Amino acid sequence: MNEPTARLALATCAELPDLDADDQPLVAALRERGVGADVVVWDDPTIDWGTYQHVLIRSTWDYTQRPTQFTDWTHRVERSSTLLNPASVVGWNIDKTYLRDLETAGLPIVPTIWLDPERNFDSRAIHTRFPAFGDFVVKPTVSAGSRDTGRYQADVTTSRSLAIMHAKNLLGVGRRVMIQRYLKQVDTAGETALVFVDGAFSHSVRKGPLLEGPYRPDDETGLYLREDMSPRDATDEELEVAQRIVDALPGLLPGVDKPLLYARVDLIPDDEGHPVLLELELTEPSLFFAHADGALERFVDALVARLV
Ligand SMILES: Nc1ncnc2c1ncn2[C@@H]1O[C@H](COP(=O)(O)OP(=O)(O)O)[C@@H](O)[C@H]1O
Ligand SMILES: [Mg+2]
Repeated sequence: MNEPTARLALATCAELPDLDADDQPLVAALRERGVGADVVVWDDPTIDWGTYQHVLIRSTWDYTQRPTQFTDWTHRVERSSTLLNPASVVGWNIDKTYLRDLETAGLPIVPTIWLDPERNFDSRAIHTRFPAFGDFVVKPTVSAGSRDTGRYQADVTTSRSLAIMHAKNLLGVGRRVMIQRYLKQVDTAGETALVFVDGAFSHSVRKGPLLEGPYRPDDETGLYLREDMSPRDATDEELEVAQRIVDALPGLLPGVDKPLLYARVDLIPDDEGHPVLLELELTEPSLFFAHADGALERFVDALVARLV
């Protein structure tokens, strides 16, 4: 049999030239259906994106320090191909300030305080925005894989000082910062990631807690913090909240009038045990195909249906 000519590109980053392990079965599953797919590094200047009818964003995880280059790339690709998910969705989703839009739409998010770099916060102003007790998290609004994220103790002076330094360092290079209470049920219950394909629930996965302490640049040797995943059935309440979030998207996103090919809703329990949104991944989420029967087939069915 001749190799099918690739008209689909799976976009990855230079560090993962053969995709992330989770996505590798995609290539064979597509080939079985007669669809050739090339794995292509998103910022490789030699690629002519116009040769692909469709470009699927996968493990492009090295863009977080240069988000503008990445969003420019999504628009460039879209001039000659169909990008999945579309550039307008990526532009909205790449910065976690989208959580504000979802909160305004009445959806439950992790309570968040936002610090904009333009405001020139001094140490004292940052300090007064931290909670008075319990643990809290400082993280940039553009991130992936827990990069540049730290956990601090509100009632320990040295920990607060480290948190101030962390926030100032991010703000100093023009990055927007989020402060959240550390929702401690994560330590036992973990996080639930619910994957939706074409707006319909496909499967869910448990992610163990990831944050132990302050941000330490020396720890960040890889693209993402090691994640501890296992299969988990979402609760009815998690399913209901996640579906409400996914259903709200066409109304919130300009130019989006039908369900997105993929969406991942990451929920954690608040202190009362109710699920709240930590992150809505519409850009380059791991889809955890290996953790649920039929997950890969459902996704490939939906993808192939869009290639015609
Ligand atoms: N407010 C919080 N409470 C508990 N855990 C948190 C909180 N914020 C972040 N985390 C932990 O840090 C990880 C990364 O944070 P997240 O907001 O998902 O950013 P990203 O995955 O884009 O880096 C989460 O998976 C979770 O384990
Ligand atoms: Mg996350």
